Amino acid sequence: MSTTVGDLLRIKGTKVETITAAETVLEAIRRMSEKHIGCLAVVTKAGKLTGIVSERDCLWKVIAPGGSPKTHLVKDAMTPLAQMKTVVPAQTVEECMGLITSRRHRHLPVLEDGKLAGLVSIGDVVKFMLDAQEATIQSLEKYITGTF
Ligand SMILES: NC(=O)c1ccc[n+]([C@@H]2O[C@H](COP(=O)([O-])OP(=O)(O)OC[C@H]3O[C@@H](n4cnc5c(N)ncnc54)[C@H](O)[C@@H]3O)[C@@H](O)[C@H]2O)c1
Repeated sequence: MSTTVGDLLRIKGTKVETITAAETVLEAIRRMSEKHIGCLAVVTKAGKLTGIVSERDCLWKVIAPGGSPKTHLVKDAMTPLAQMKTVVPAQTVEECMGLITSRRHRHLPVLEDGKLAGLVSIGDVVKFMLDAQEATIQSLEKYITGTF
């Protein structure tokens, strides 16, 4: 049976770091830096997901054109929900890898009944796949050497 996003979140945790669209890009950068993460979910005051803002969004849409992160707001840099992909807990990790590679998204918010329920990154998916490969190799080695 394929491993799902829900399985991955049970290991990784469901907490999502967020920001609102009205906060400054500088605040977004500070929050990402403090938490050692590359993106924040953009939410309304009521916690509804409206998009994400990544370190790349901040660099490409604000810094590269000569803007100031002190005055530009998250709404100027964020990728709105309509332009991105989200996943649900029942989807497989392989499906996430497909979206990450084909759509060039590095972060996928997880929605459950329309509510933000986690966030999966390219690193989470790669780590999961490497761990699964390692487990397969170890069980094959045990099978071949008769130590099963
Ligand atoms: N050892 C691990 O378990 C692990 C997991 C993921 C990434 N990494 C490594 O970290 C580096 C960067 O990772 P990345 O490119 O996947 O992106 P990233 O730096 O944005 O993500 C790092 C971790 O933070 C989490 N994260 C990111 N934004 C979040 C948010 N807003 N709320 C909650 N969690 C959030 C991700 O899900 C991931 O687990 C890479 O070198 C990668 O290999 C390691």
